[in-house]
Amino acid sequence: MNGEHFKLLSEFVSPTYLNQAVGSRNSASGKITELLTQRRIPQTGWSADMIEMFIREVSLWDSNNFPSKGCVGEREGRCVSDLVRRRHWGLTHGIGRSGDVNAEQPKAAGSSFLLNLTKCLVHDALKNIFGISQLPREVVVLPIATGMSLMMGMTAASQLNPTRKHVIWSRIDQKSCIKSMTADPSLIVDVVEQVVSTQSNTLETDLSSINQLITQLGHDNIHSIVLTTSTFAPRSPDNIPAVSVVCKEYNIPLIVNNAYGLQCTKCVHLINEALRVGRVDLVVQSTDKTFLVPVGGSVIFGPLAGTVNKIYPGRASLGPILDLLITLLEVGRDGLENLLSDRKSNSEYLKQQLEGVSEITVLKNNKNSISLAITGEHITSSIGSQLFLRNISGARVFTRTDKISQIDLRVALKNFGGHQDKPLADTYLNAACAIGTTREEIDLFIKRLGGLLQKH
Ligand SMILES: Cc1ncc(COP(=O)(O)O)c(C=O)c1O
Repeated sequence: MNGEHFKLLSEFVSPTYLNQAVGSRNSASGKITELLTQRRIPQTGWSADMIEMFIREVSLWDSNNFPSKGCVGEREGRCVSDLVRRRHWGLTHGIGRSGDVNAEQPKAAGSSFLLNLTKCLVHDALKNIFGISQLPREVVVLPIATGMSLMMGMTAASQLNPTRKHVIWSRIDQKSCIKSMTADPSLIVDVVEQVVSTQSNTLETDLSSINQLITQLGHDNIHSIVLTTSTFAPRSPDNIPAVSVVCKEYNIPLIVNNAYGLQCTKCVHLINEALRVGRVDLVVQSTDKTFLVPVGGSVIFGPLAGTVNKIYPGRASLGPILDLLITLLEVGRDGLENLLSDRKSNSEYLKQQLEGVSEITVLKNNKNSISLAITGEHITSSIGSQLFLRNISGARVFTRTDKISQIDLRVALKNFGGHQDKPLADTYLNAACAIGTTREEIDLFIKRLGGLLQKH
């Protein structure tokens, strides 16, 4: 209702009550004014009711929700299921146009507005909460997960230099990472194994092999270098700054997989440094692993982000973007900051609690604050599944086999899962303390792990 309606209401409700009602309405509309003027995540999160009211109003701006309409196109945002329509608050037109997935959709002013608002709030989160200080102005939010965005990033890099075919890849044993590079059959993936750091007993980026490969292949033949921040221990985040300097010197695109690195200040520092001293073409992060929304979105930034927008064929779903917007409005700045500081302290808590478990060793790795690698006489290949059967998910065991696994037609890796052909330890258990992990979950993990180890 608008101000005019409230004047008319004076004949229905006595002035005292009406004034209170106007006060409540003004408080809600004040929040919206603040959001639209500041374009930042609200300090304190909004209530779910307030968010729903906001979305419902905005959804009326999409043509499929106009009260009087004649839709004669083949794609008019119709839903035959009312439940499906309501699940999306009637925001069924999607985002983008065939020429650009982040462009305004003429039939959907509401959806286009929500996309642009989400981009502003994500920009705010990345810069002012996660701390990407050199963040480029354009941040793109895509309704495709990390692997797909990386794949689009590879295509975008091909458009920069169509004749270059070699991708230098600092090995990380995660299949989507590999598939994102090999989806284009013309690309050749040159694997750079991790090196064992003599000081810290961790796996680190092999800078000298990267440099050697550049010389051997010729920098004009290198399509891109692909690095990763967030990874299972004992692998460390790649040395993004050092490689970014090499990329700048030799004019090579650098693509950074920062799937869940934003929650870790060490990963953020690496990206900031690289943006400051070198060349970074694209940084990709997962929305589910960073913002705790259902799987299906990613946030990308860097000079190639605009090209990714343009090569995305067709429109895309607003769904994952709406999930992200709702989450940012509901959690607010305070909530997001609390999640980050809880993760940091819970990560220390996990380490301390593991120190109290007998007959295991946590491999020290000061560079990886998310994932831990745990060794011990009774850490065997079956412990991951035993934990899973006891409702502990996410813990996984690596066991050295010295076998070569054919990951896809063109990439074969020895000791897949260990991030290196000669793994640092023969068997280890990985556990992570990621954003959202609670102390109760850590306590349960420690109890069940301790229980299993005691059986031996
Ligand atoms: C480092 C890394 N990159 C990429 C991916 C793939 O992410 P998505 O499933 O969001 O495509 C993952 C998923 O676990 C990952 O850990």
